[in-house]
Amino acid sequence: MTTFDSRQFRDVLGHVPTSVVVVTGIDSDGIPQGITIGSFVSVSLEPPLVGFLPGTQSKTWNSLRGTGKFCVNVLAENQADVCWKFAKESDDRFADVEWSPSLNGAPAIAGSLAHIDCDLDSDVLYGDHFFVVGRVTHLHTPTGVSQNAMAFYRGKVVEVEFPE
Ligand SMILES: Cc1cc2nc3c(=O)[nH]c(=O)nc-3n(C[C@H](O)[C@H](O)[C@H](O)COP(=O)(O)O)c2cc1C
Repeated sequence: MTTFDSRQFRDVLGHVPTSVVVVTGIDSDGIPQGITIGSFVSVSLEPPLVGFLPGTQSKTWNSLRGTGKFCVNVLAENQADVCWKFAKESDDRFADVEWSPSLNGAPAIAGSLAHIDCDLDSDVLYGDHFFVVGRVTHLHTPTGVSQNAMAFYRGKVVEVEFPE
């Protein structure tokens, strides 16, 4: 038995600040796909594994899973437009977004703090989300971009002063 409803669950869990990443890839039709994700986590050092949790209804994840690879773009504080663009329904989320292929071919979004290329390791269903774990194949931290990460708290992009 629970003592709360889903609204309270969302409200209370919104008190946990998260990073914001955009998980990207090229689907089997050759079309770039991407989704804004707040559930990114570093999982293991040896072997190097990272994870995130897309909803079971995620069109983006359902179009990328079969390709077996993706790129995690870690957003900088000044990429709020990118954060919202990849969280909204759109025919082309990449319109007006500058990107180039990362080493595994997935879109590396310009201005991001880091690009983390992955091969799909596992994809396990938990409730209404999948826990996707990727094996990291390549890491890249571009120079010349804002070095402050984006943070998300209680439904909003918030400014956090991160030390150098
Ligand atoms: C800051 C932020 C974090 C988000 N984190 C997640 C997440 O971890 N998992 C998820 O499934 N959706 C998350 N979303 C919502 C998706 O980005 C959104 O539902 C998107 O429209 C799904 O697109 P898709 O159906 O093309 O996959 C987040 C949205 C925002 C703004």
